[in-house]
Amino acid sequence: MTLVKPRAVSGGEHEHGHLEEFRTDPIALMARVREECGDIGSFRLADRDVILLTGAQANEFFFRASDDELDQAAAYPFMKPIFGEGVVFDAPPERRKEMLHNTALRAEQMRGHATTIAREVDRMLARWGDEGEIDLLEFFAELTIYTSSACLIGTKFREELDDRFAHLYHELERGTDAYCYVDPYAPIESFRRRDEARWELVKLVRHIMAGRLANPPTGKDDRDMLDVLVSVQDEQGRPRFSASEITGIFISMMFAGHHTTSGTAAWTIIELLRHPEVLEQVVTELDTLYADGSDVSFHALRQIPHLEAVLKEALRLHPPLIILMRVAREEFEVCGHRIDPGDLVAASPAVSNRIPESFPDPERFDPSRYLDPNQEDLANRWTWIPFGAGRHRCVGAAFALMQLKAIFSILLRDWEFELAQPSDSYRNDHSKMVVQLQQPCAVRYRRRTRPASS
Ligand code: HEM
Repeated sequence: MTLVKPRAVSGGEHEHGHLEEFRTDPIALMARVREECGDIGSFRLADRDVILLTGAQANEFFFRASDDELDQAAAYPFMKPIFGEGVVFDAPPERRKEMLHNTALRAEQMRGHATTIAREVDRMLARWGDEGEIDLLEFFAELTIYTSSACLIGTKFREELDDRFAHLYHELERGTDAYCYVDPYAPIESFRRRDEARWELVKLVRHIMAGRLANPPTGKDDRDMLDVLVSVQDEQGRPRFSASEITGIFISMMFAGHHTTSGTAAWTIIELLRHPEVLEQVVTELDTLYADGSDVSFHALRQIPHLEAVLKEALRLHPPLIILMRVAREEFEVCGHRIDPGDLVAASPAVSNRIPESFPDPERFDPSRYLDPNQEDLANRWTWIPFGAGRHRCVGAAFALMQLKAIFSILLRDWEFELAQPSDSYRNDHSKMVVQLQQPCAVRYRRRTRPASS
């Protein structure tokens, strides 16, 4: 029997296929693929077919496939100009794994990270008055630059950063227009700003490196990853890594965990404020937990069931990565259809997380889905996929959840919040592959009159 190609979704008559729609409303496009074509369908991105898989069976194929079958590196062309030559997606698979699965993410490091994160939250909050307003995107993006640099690179490096680093990093994330599927170096404004920001970051790192060379670390305890990289030499005794390469390594270490954690924190607070009864439950839970004066670093590593359920539900409804991509290296049969070598193959957390067969009343924010005996995340391992699944499942998931628990333990212990805009005006900006909150996204804060300890 000859297999047929998956059905193509309607529209896409333009020379770049569905690219324009993908740049403006990608979730609506992907939801339409499922509606019109079922678990397997396709849309066109520039000169490539994207085979979109949704639903448990098709997703299982996607997540179980090896890199030789479905290649991850080739599918994210927007990353190479950001990371730079030789870093992560431009390196061979073995080296890539080694760099990605960073030792900083080991379980025994988590307690120290929790303390570091709590300290960083306190530092951000020290800037607040008794009441005021924050922009959620700016606040959490800056906070998570400090937490991820401190935990993944080292507190010594973090101490050399200020909000300039956060702003430049933000420009990199904004430089992920889907136009990269036509040409990642095309002369468009967001790519120009991306390259300029990377260049400025290299200058910043070069300056910090010069300081390290002028004042070498005094002992092992005084060394962070930058000291190590600066001291590595090639056979001729010259520095092994340039400032650009070191910047690329740092960018790549922080990239996967930065906008994802920052966005999840923002959506968690929005959903809590949209659902006051859930907020009250979580605040009571935290007040009870911390009533004995114990540390955030203690509880962030343990279960906080209601808060965790809220985080999971925020992740289900607002997954930071809305589409995961691969390039097919062989011919496959999936759900009775043919995938050809060279096809882009995708899974979509934004679509699969809302499938009604897996999640009854899928549009409803309902954290009780994760409380005993429901466990809808575990029951739907191929469709509850904010962290992906299988081979490439997020290696930072435990770290991210611990970080979010630490952040909310502190925020909700000492502060009350209020939406500063109509509830339905909070939206994601989908014009870039890195999805972030659309501004304005303001929230008001006020110091709590009833501290937890009372
Ligand atoms: C992979 C989501 C936080 C590091 C992934 C994938 C998803 C994801 C969906 C799979 C990508 C794919 O299949 O193509 C998230 C979300 C986060 C988060 C929602 C926060 C709420 C983090 C953090 C780190 C991290 C904090 C590191 C500190 C990674 C790495 C991979 C990955 C290295 C690649 C794993 C591989 O390819 O084998 N993440 N992530 N992530 N994530 Fe996360």
